[in-house]
Amino acid sequence: MTAQIIDGKKISMDIREELRPRVDLLTDKGAKPGLAVVLVGDDPASQVYVRNKERACEKLGILSVKHDLSQETSQEELLALVENLNQDPSIHGVLVQLPLPSHINEKEILYAISPEKDVDGFHPQNLGRLVIGDPLFLPCTPWGVQELLLRSGVQVEGKNVVIFGRSNIVGKPLTMMLIQKAKGANATVTVCHTRTRNPEFFTRSADILIAAAGSPGLVTSEMVKEGAVVIDVGINKVNDRLVGDVDFEGVSKVASLITPVPGGAGPMTIAMLMANTVKAAEYRIGL
Ligand code: GUN
Repeated sequence: MTAQIIDGKKISMDIREELRPRVDLLTDKGAKPGLAVVLVGDDPASQVYVRNKERACEKLGILSVKHDLSQETSQEELLALVENLNQDPSIHGVLVQLPLPSHINEKEILYAISPEKDVDGFHPQNLGRLVIGDPLFLPCTPWGVQELLLRSGVQVEGKNVVIFGRSNIVGKPLTMMLIQKAKGANATVTVCHTRTRNPEFFTRSADILIAAAGSPGLVTSEMVKEGAVVIDVGINKVNDRLVGDVDFEGVSKVASLITPVPGGAGPMTIAMLMANTVKAAEYRIGL
């Protein structure tokens, strides 16, 4: 079998274009959506991500305000900025790019973002709402994975889904999303991680395998069931090349559908961030 490639770039552009009439309507009503992006320090990968987020905003007519802070920014300064953005009526979404420098207490910063402006969906109130099936903002990367599956015609209901990785940003929220009694969910989800014994025992039973461990070459063809759908959320730099967690060449020979890196799950994160920003602006004016 040769897997068909899921074009995340194309699907993400479709989603972004679908948002345009909603942005235009908000703008006509004097509530142009605004996203504040806070970057602390000069991590090169974060700089690229932030630039891509800004560009996506500009293309859609969303106001984008970047706060570029030095590596030496203190906890108090960063907290004060977040408080300011919480109060700013032109801003509907506040995103603090991770990772933060090691002297910053990341948890305290994320908890300080107003849950109504938490377009990353990282605030405990939003994660808690996700767990009980009453979400406000879904974390962008897991939501992007769910949309990729939905728009590729992959049935999730009743399927065995194995998620490799248990991060707060991807693995845990994605698990919660896919076990919900809801459209595009209702799956049986197994989570594998660094302490899982014989992960191939689980991954070989997966109808849908999602790799989100941040470990290049983690998923090889022997670990994948013939005909499985494989979603690669990993973004790793190896010898100046971007690769995922999946051995794309090998796994393409056994999977039925597979996402590439780059051009798979990555662009979806930005599309869902735009969707959350629009949603935040709509929420504010009661639409
Ligand atoms: N760093 C890597 N992914 C993300 C993300 O989705 N949001 C933020 N804020 N930082 C990140």
